[in-house]
Amino acid sequence: MSTTERSGSLESGAVAERNDSLSVTDNRTGESFEIPITDGTVKAMDFRQMKVSEDDFGLMTYDPAFTNTASCRSEITYIDGEAGVLEHRGYSIEALCKHSSYLEVAYLLIHGELPTKDQHDEWVHEVTIHTYVHEGMKRFLQGFRYDAHPMGMLLAGVGALSTFYPTAKNIDDPDERHMAAVRLIAKMPTLAAFAYRHSMGLPYVYPDNDLWYPANFLSMLYKMAEAKYDADPRLTRALDVLFILHADHEQNCSTSAVRSVGSSQVDPYSAVAAGVAALYGPLHGGANEAVLRMLDRIETVENIPSFLEGVKSGDERLMGFGHRVYKNYDPRARIIKTNVDEVLEVTGMNPKLEIAVELEKRALDDEYFTSRKLYPNVDFYSGLIYEALEIPPAMFTVIFAIPRTAGWVAQWLEMVDDSDTKIARPRQIYSGERERDYVSLDER
Ligand code: CMC
Repeated sequence: MSTTERSGSLESGAVAERNDSLSVTDNRTGESFEIPITDGTVKAMDFRQMKVSEDDFGLMTYDPAFTNTASCRSEITYIDGEAGVLEHRGYSIEALCKHSSYLEVAYLLIHGELPTKDQHDEWVHEVTIHTYVHEGMKRFLQGFRYDAHPMGMLLAGVGALSTFYPTAKNIDDPDERHMAAVRLIAKMPTLAAFAYRHSMGLPYVYPDNDLWYPANFLSMLYKMAEAKYDADPRLTRALDVLFILHADHEQNCSTSAVRSVGSSQVDPYSAVAAGVAALYGPLHGGANEAVLRMLDRIETVENIPSFLEGVKSGDERLMGFGHRVYKNYDPRARIIKTNVDEVLEVTGMNPKLEIAVELEKRALDDEYFTSRKLYPNVDFYSGLIYEALEIPPAMFTVIFAIPRTAGWVAQWLEMVDDSDTKIARPRQIYSGERERDYVSLDER
């Protein structure tokens, strides 16, 4: 029988002793067990002692989408979905967007603390001098078909980085880990921009290391014959805020993929390539594009009521609304909304914004959405910003991958250092045939 942990008094007034354990009776055998509860969690392995016979494997838990399974301990990102709170290393997303920069947030995610001035300057310098990729990488990307999806190119490019830095597989070496973190954050915009230029049939533009991170990215996307690409600072700042907003979101699909693949002790480039692959899927990185298509279809504010009726009758889905974790306004959506206004001040009004604002207002006034706790999520307004920056829809997920790299790297580093880490290897419930006689081909 498992041990029981006891803690101090719970309620004011009467001294109540709290028993932090779960009593379970296995009705198949009548046996009772006491399972410790730590951090509001029971260990799935504690159920294995529950058996119907000596040779029984023991009880397992079934949770196909990990909807109620904590896969790790983490100190990086905190989300309270009911309250609409998002914090990185204890700092609110609102404060970080207001005062910080993406590269500083990347440092915070990875190191756990905000950098001092010297640490900040050194970090920015390191990332900046590693933005170039090997010429072989350029030739590798040039081998793709003219219409290759930029996300497929990015995925292949990140995986290929492991062949350019073979010593990164020494994951126990702190210097190797550090260099991989720097290189991934530094080279992701370069690979993303090369993939974009390829899809446009344009020559690739090398990084301009005089520019700060988001300005350099825009330069690699859009520079033509001019000596220097000079993006409007309001746009680069807006892009930097978008990068901060997408930097990490705890154990989402792509981050879990990075941790799971990384648990095999493969090099970090290969582990992060798994994250890019997961993000490629429409249920993860692609919803902002769907929002734009939805706004296009609605066409005018007058059509909103009939569209919402379609949503309520189940014929439509209100894209950019709802979230598995947030049952309140996604705090990232609130920040992006202000950002949209600032960007459109520079680029000119987009008629889709008027439809989006009115759509949000009406949905938030409607019992169907409020009773289901459906609020705008990060994707409701981000597509409008990308569109204003003239970024084509195929690039939206690629742009998501750039800042999420900081989160993937931070989570990978935490996983590598965690003494609880073992190779990820779930169990299954086998529901197929057993012990069949093989029938030769000519007798089938
Ligand atoms: N439009 C209309 N109804 C919805 C929507 C929506 N966008 N989202 C959820 N519902 C309804 C759903 O039909 C269900 O109703 P009922 O109880 O009558 O069956 C109820 O709300 C609960 O929804 P659910 O499907 O159980 O929620 P979920 O946690 O499985 O799904 C979601 C979350 C994000 C997949 C879903 O809300 C959705 O499809 N939203 C639209 C797509 C979208 O915007 N995705 C971006 C997510 S944010 C990106 C990120 O953080 O990575």
